Amino acid sequence: MSGLKFRRLDSIGAEVSGADWTQPIADDVARDLYAAWLEHGVLVFPRAGLDADVHLRLSRVFGELEEHPVKALHVKGRKDLIFFGGDETKGPGKMVDGEKLAGYLYAHQDMAYTPNLCKGSMLRMVIMPDRGGDTLFWDTARAWRDLPAATRERLRGLHSIHRMNVIPPRNPWGMPGHTVEALETEAELIARRGYAADIPLIRHPMTITHPESGLVSLLLSPNSYVVIEGMAQAESDAFFDELTTHLFQPQYGYRHCWSLNDIVLWDNRRTVHMATGYPHEQTRLAYRTTLKGAMACGEYYKPADRKVAATT
Ligand SMILES: [Fe+2]
Repeated sequence: MSGLKFRRLDSIGAEVSGADWTQPIADDVARDLYAAWLEHGVLVFPRAGLDADVHLRLSRVFGELEEHPVKALHVKGRKDLIFFGGDETKGPGKMVDGEKLAGYLYAHQDMAYTPNLCKGSMLRMVIMPDRGGDTLFWDTARAWRDLPAATRERLRGLHSIHRMNVIPPRNPWGMPGHTVEALETEAELIARRGYAADIPLIRHPMTITHPESGLVSLLLSPNSYVVIEGMAQAESDAFFDELTTHLFQPQYGYRHCWSLNDIVLWDNRRTVHMATGYPHEQTRLAYRTTLKGAMACGEYYKPADRKVAATT
């Protein structure tokens, strides 16, 4: 017995206690952590992230770490840590429900704008704003399981097309009344961040089977959604909105209100998450590790088909 304690959070995730994370992690502790991560989807380590060593040691319990492809996000001198926030990369922000926010990112699954869905990520809070900056998580496996049988049948074999959405999506699917307005054009953001200008289209199945747990879940990643393959835009949008409205119900969600040094790990293959943003004049800084072993569930959309999606 490792002596670890797991306290269930709202509707997804568990809070972990019962170990000193400044010390090397014993094999039985590592085994229990990994099993709990697969079971709960999200693990929270309250105020555990005292330094980068703790963050990296805990991350490696869940696998090797990956170098993030966006080099502009690397923490100086490190390939295994990227940062979110700080003042250098803040940009002009977004108007979200009438307030100017930094760090807002609509609901998504990491790297769903590539063929390979990220395995998971671990975030550590380094600088806190006075308010805001929460992270929301939803359980895409339980949401899939609870869908009406007819909807699950309709989803069988369906694929959706995705594109890295550097400005807010056309519509905040599943969040009626929520308004988001970019304060820079996509071209301006691409230039500021140094992204490649030709953003590819990606084709993903809308349901995936978890490679380790066998859980079936929805792959929605609403922030990068373009269209469901083979559907007219209006029909596709209506169905996508129906699915996201279902997913964003409270019984599938958890809102993490950060404390300094909190560490949160999520399984990106069975969760959707969202950064709610914080007042633009304030500073928030978080460091993230990314687990190697992405799930190769998607593919680049064929050039011949791109004409179809380009009209959407
Ligand atoms: Fe993310």
